[in-house]
Amino acid sequence: MRVLSGIQPTGEFHIGNYFGAMKQYVDLQEEEHEGYYFIANYHAFTSIHDPAELRRLTQDVVMNFLAFGIDPERSVLFRQSDVPQVTELTWLLSCITPMGLLERCHAYKDKISQGLAADHGLFAYPVLMASDILIYDSNLVPVGQDQKQHVEVTRDLALKFNQMFGETLVVPEPYILKTVAVVPGVDGQKMSKSYDNTIPVFDTDKGIKKRIMSIKTDSTPVEDPKDPDTCNVFALYQLFATEEQSREMAERYRAGGLGYGEVKKALVTMVLDHFADARARKQELINNPDYVEDVAQAGAAKARAKAAEVLDRCRSACGF
Ligand code: ADP
Ligand code: TRP
Repeated sequence: MRVLSGIQPTGEFHIGNYFGAMKQYVDLQEEEHEGYYFIANYHAFTSIHDPAELRRLTQDVVMNFLAFGIDPERSVLFRQSDVPQVTELTWLLSCITPMGLLERCHAYKDKISQGLAADHGLFAYPVLMASDILIYDSNLVPVGQDQKQHVEVTRDLALKFNQMFGETLVVPEPYILKTVAVVPGVDGQKMSKSYDNTIPVFDTDKGIKKRIMSIKTDSTPVEDPKDPDTCNVFALYQLFATEEQSREMAERYRAGGLGYGEVKKALVTMVLDHFADARARKQELINNPDYVEDVAQAGAAKARAKAAEVLDRCRSACGF
C-alpha cells in the first residue's frame, strides 16, 4: 500500500494540525505502509506571494515532518516543487476536467461566495492535488474531512482518464483521518491559523503558556460545579490526558471548587511534556539546515523517479 499526503506550508504548525494530520501520518508509518509525504508549496503559492516567506515556511514543514518522526529511511519526504513533473500531469488532467467539477469545489466556491476574486490557481487547485496523488500511483490518501472532496475529484479524474486512454492510473481511496473531533482554538472555534486562535507547537515555553492561559472560559465562580463537556480547556486537556486522568478531571469539574486557572496550568504541563521530544528535535534540525536540505533532496530524487515513470505512461497513453 502506498500512502500519500501533503501539508501546505502556509503558517505556524499548531495542535490542530498535529492531531488532525501529523500524528496520524506517523501512526500510519508504524503500520508499515510505504509513505510519501510532501510539502505542498505549489499549493501554498495560491496564497503566499512573498518568496522569502514561502521558502522559510516550506523548510519549516520539512523540519516538522522530521521532528515528529517521519523517518526518511522508511518514508519518502520531499517538496512538491522538486518534482516539476507534477505540473505536466496537471495539464494532461486539466484537459479532461469539466469546469462544473471545479466550480463545485469548496476552496474556490467559498472565496467566490465571500465576494472575493479568485485566481486560476485556486480554481485549478484540485487538479494539481489530483496530479500529486496520481503521479505516485498512490493507493491511500489520509486527509482531514475538509479534503475529502478533493480526493473524490481525484478518483473521478483517474476513472475518466482510464476510460478514455486505457488503464493507466491507479484509482486511490481516501482514508479519512479519525479527527479527534475538531480541535478547538483558544476562542472555542475550530483551531485555525485563519482565526488567530492557535496554540503553536513550536513557540517558546512562555508563548505556549500565554496562549493556554488565554483560553476563553465562562465566568462560573470557582466554587460552583462546572460542565466539562462544554469547556474548551477540558476539550484540549482530553487530547493529552489518559482516560483515567480525564475521568478524574471531569469529576472535579462536576464537584465544584475547581478553577479554570488550575486546569489551564495542568494543560500547560501536559502540552510541554507531550511535545518535549519533537520540540528538542526541531531545535536540532534548525541548527542543521544542511541535513534538512539533504533529506529533502534525497526524497525528491526518489519521488522524481516514480513520477517520471507514471508521467511517461500518461504521456504515451495520451498521444505524446
Ligand atoms: P488551518 O486551518 O490552520 O489553515 P490547514 O487547513 O492548513 O490548517 O490544515 C492542515 C491539516 O491539519 C489538515 O489536514 C486539517 O484537517 C488539519 N487541521 C487543521 N486544523 C485542525 C483542527 N482544528 N482540528 C483538527 N484538524 C485540523
Ligand atoms: N490540499 C491539501 C490541504 O490543504 C494539501 C495537499 C495538496 C494534499 N496535495 C495533496 C493532501 C495531495 C493530500 C494529497 O490540506
